[in-house]
Amino acid sequence: MANNVNRVALIGTGFVGSSYAFALLNQGVTEELVLIDLNKEKSEGDAMDLNHGLAFAPSSTKIWYGSYDDCKTADLVVLCAGANQKPGETRLDLVAKNLKIFKAIVTDVMESGFDGIFIVATNPVDILSYAVWKYSGLPQSRVIGSGTILDTARFRYLIGEHFKVDTRNVHAYIIGEHGDTELPVWSHADIGGLPILDSITDEKEKLDEIFVNVRDAAYHIINRKGATYYGIAMGLVRLTKAILQNENSILTVSCYLAGEYGEDDVYIGVPAIVNRNGVHKVIELRLNEQEKKQFAHSASVLKETMDPFFK
Ligand code: LAC
Repeated sequence: MANNVNRVALIGTGFVGSSYAFALLNQGVTEELVLIDLNKEKSEGDAMDLNHGLAFAPSSTKIWYGSYDDCKTADLVVLCAGANQKPGETRLDLVAKNLKIFKAIVTDVMESGFDGIFIVATNPVDILSYAVWKYSGLPQSRVIGSGTILDTARFRYLIGEHFKVDTRNVHAYIIGEHGDTELPVWSHADIGGLPILDSITDEKEKLDEIFVNVRDAAYHIINRKGATYYGIAMGLVRLTKAILQNENSILTVSCYLAGEYGEDDVYIGVPAIVNRNGVHKVIELRLNEQEKKQFAHSASVLKETMDPFFK
């Protein structure tokens, strides 16, 4: 934090990045926001457009189109650049092209003298978070992927809809890859403190349907509107707020495991305490046997996918 002012540097002002910038401004989370993108024209236009809305924002945010030099004193660099899923593509299909893009971006950011926290949003977010950790040389705790933060929000929303309770009173996690191998932790899901599995009678199929709708949500949205961006942007603002306001909040983010959940040397979505220093602690849930198997499978898919690029 330079002169006690929070600065966020956003790299990539496409659908997700510009939605994140818009949400950040509307929630008044940071004092400074610098936009960086290869498309100077578009990014400058975003800065102008956002500045014109400042009069309606809850607090003032200085926004400008800048350069990698502006990352030097940034508290957070948020990576939204890269290719996104097209209809029919999985997130893992993006790995080769986005690793190449990230190598160049992270090199430029580190050359600025950046010494803050990376938030990674681009997919496949778990593998790209691992890559940012490797490329940047920063401590694992200071490279955080959005992970299953959005999947968990989708999960809580659909459970709330089904049981007709406010999403904020649903406590449930999606963990694992942010992708096709993610898993629901039903063994620790509750509504207002009542375990969901104890409260259902013949609704097991409905719960399975809820999870499938969460896991496949992005495909359904992409098939309808070409991309997803509002939900993830709001999840990124939630994570930004937890860091900048030193919240010690528990969020399901993609973080480095060094033995937790029986896994090592992988970035994957798990509940973790997040504060001003990044990931403070991984919360290790006591998974049941089925959840343990699913989590191990998810971690192995991520490792098999990334090994050719890192081993
Ligand atoms: C989604 C993107 C962020 O799940 O992967 O909507």
